[in-house]
Amino acid sequence: MSVVVDRQDAVAVVTIDRQEALNALDVETLTELRDRLRELAEDYAARVVVLTGAGDRAFVAGADIKYMGSLEPAEAKEWGALGHEAARLLEDMPKPTVAAINGFALGGGCELALGCDLRYASSNARLGQPEIDLGIVPGWGGTQRLARVCGLGVAKELVLTGRQVDAEEAFRIGLVNAVADPVLEHALEVAGRLAARSPVALRVAKRLLNLSPGALEREAEEFGDLFASEDAKEGLAAFAEKRPPRFVGR
Ligand code: CAA
Repeated sequence: MSVVVDRQDAVAVVTIDRQEALNALDVETLTELRDRLRELAEDYAARVVVLTGAGDRAFVAGADIKYMGSLEPAEAKEWGALGHEAARLLEDMPKPTVAAINGFALGGGCELALGCDLRYASSNARLGQPEIDLGIVPGWGGTQRLARVCGLGVAKELVLTGRQVDAEEAFRIGLVNAVADPVLEHALEVAGRLAARSPVALRVAKRLLNLSPGALEREAEEFGDLFASEDAKEGLAAFAEKRPPRFVGR
């Protein structure tokens, strides 16, 4: 079991546990996460959902790069759709979702955190969208949600350069709501306060705050298309082979 749901009164804590890969998401783990989120979205007794990673090194170090290395575009689109569904559940479920970012939140990890309503980071957290270094682009909502949360200028810098930020900078640019140690304790304290509020009012407030246009479907499509490029194959293989990539531009 790599995704564990623990109930603390009306708060459900979802922990992603694949520590040997810094909680990077392979198909099994991401499917399990999606299934647990679907259940929690429907579960009236769970008034707030907190998402975190097991251990003290990572929230989620991204989508599993080794798995992605062999994907054809059609498979990459399915993979993108699965990640989009998980992020969309966090964004749309009719109750607050809170990310307790306890270390690396990179690529798909940052995108899941961006799907949450609130984000708190431990002081050792590092966040970013480093996909460009792999010859691909964010594929689980990062291009749209990062711009919505931090503004287009910040999103362009982070997505185009792949630069990662530490917790303090993440707070300064609005990517996280606060830096706190231990971060899960802080997230649970906030979640406990939210759980005491009216679920009806929270549901409506969340729905209204989410009313803004996006281009998520377009992102999912182009993410998949990129897997036909030599550069994507090279970037993904280079990570697994622990060497710098050699991009050729096609
Ligand atoms: N996928 C698969 N395996 C990963 C991984 C990932 N995203 N991140 C880390 N791992 C694995 C490493 O390969 C390593 O496994 P081995 O021991 O078998 O070699 C293990 O986790 C520990 O990682 P490191 O030895 O690399 O640890 P480190 O402390 O030296 O570095 C790190 C940590 C900076 C996070 C580094 O692991 C790293 O750069 N990871 C990749 C981060 C990344 O690029 N994420 C984005 C993925 S693409 C994506 O998410 C696409 C999308 O939008 C959907």
